[in-house]
Amino acid sequence: MWYSPVRLRKAPDRRLLPVDESVTAPDLSFDRVEPVVSGFIDDYLRLHDLDPQRFRARPLPGRDEMFFKAILPNYEFDASISAFKFVESTVRLGEAYRQLVEGVFGGFDQVGPVLDFASGWGRLTRYLEQRLPLSQISVADIYHDAIDWQVATFGVSGVHSTKDPALLSYAGRHDVVLAGSMFSHLPEGLFHAWLAKLHSLVSARGVLAFSVHDEAILPAGEAMGADGFHFLRFSESGSLDLDIYGMSYVTEAFVGRAIERLGPGLSWRRFPKGLYENQDLYVVGALGVDLSDLKLGSTPMGGFETVATLPTGEVEFAGWAVERTPGAQIAAARVFVDGEEVLSLVPARERPDVQKHFPGSARPPVGWSFRLSPQQAAPGAMVRVRLESDSGLMGYCYAQMPTPATFTYSGWSRRGLR
Ligand SMILES: C[S@@+](CC[C@H](N)C(=O)[O-])C[C@H]1O[C@@H](n2cnc3c(N)ncnc32)[C@H](O)[C@@H]1O
Repeated sequence: MWYSPVRLRKAPDRRLLPVDESVTAPDLSFDRVEPVVSGFIDDYLRLHDLDPQRFRARPLPGRDEMFFKAILPNYEFDASISAFKFVESTVRLGEAYRQLVEGVFGGFDQVGPVLDFASGWGRLTRYLEQRLPLSQISVADIYHDAIDWQVATFGVSGVHSTKDPALLSYAGRHDVVLAGSMFSHLPEGLFHAWLAKLHSLVSARGVLAFSVHDEAILPAGEAMGADGFHFLRFSESGSLDLDIYGMSYVTEAFVGRAIERLGPGLSWRRFPKGLYENQDLYVVGALGVDLSDLKLGSTPMGGFETVATLPTGEVEFAGWAVERTPGAQIAAARVFVDGEEVLSLVPARERPDVQKHFPGSARPPVGWSFRLSPQQAAPGAMVRVRLESDSGLMGYCYAQMPTPATFTYSGWSRRGLR
């Protein structure tokens, strides 16, 4: 689910996971993140107008399976890079939310109460608490300890959810009800039942937004059901029953029919790859809320792959990027050293080897590379690449300028192999 070939350092910290899987991991404090990566995190948060101190004040709770059983193993238990990836995914989620709120209501100052349904341990809450008064934020999850932790930690309102929506007595109304990565895991019966329940929690001017796995990312060898729905009995959760939480895949036609069951005349939109790395975002209005002008893009993704010292003393950086918004493309990659722009380039070389990680992306992934001389970047400087999409959205990736290696040359002259 979280893919990036980025590896800046090797320091797997397996102490973060208990040997006995049934025991909870210790909380991970952001203070344990290496100073270099902390610098990347702070820069990245500030670029998105988020206060790093406030963001980092709360640890990643050890019971959060999404972090400790998905992100951390995906990055070989490298706590620092995993923490960066958590922050990156939070900001991308926030960027989708920002576009939704701006597109439907005109901005965060115009929106009323919001509900993050299936909020887990509050990834989105870390973003929302810096955008909205706490009194406007409600969170719900079937993990009641996660909700209790969020209420105690952030001061938001909490709702204990249930397996079956018929058992949920909650009836609050919200301008935005978001269910991120919940419908992508529901079996068919619960998909319809939760859709009806969550749409009933939308205010008269509001919207329901939910993400799904599209048929484009159906695993190889699996066949889509005749009705456009396919359910697989596995998930990242170590505790949720597979009868209520697995992996589901849908067609747009299936979702369209599911929305029709809510009532006639609802305006709705599909935004391919609109949420997370690979999920499609659907937005459904309350009756009379017209979404035909709503625009919502996916932030470009990308990362560094190699940092190599050349015989000249220059350092060559290389990486990849992918545009997932239909109709958009990555127009430029701008390179900043300690915050100052030093060069820009247009990434154009196709990277079919990266494509398999982003099935159904709007455009093929592209590669980029550039060199920095010791005059342009001193050892230890922060190198930031800004991936600029013509959708108006931007992605960022980071590296530290290394101390150039000293080595003898393999050729007959230094110049010969340059
Ligand atoms: C993949 S996680 C996504 C968490 C969060 N939306 C995020 O983006 O970080 C899916 C979440 O759905 C929750 N969930 C599953 N079934 C639920 C239900 N019936 N009611 C509320 N939450 C549920 C799980 O407990 C889990 O926290």
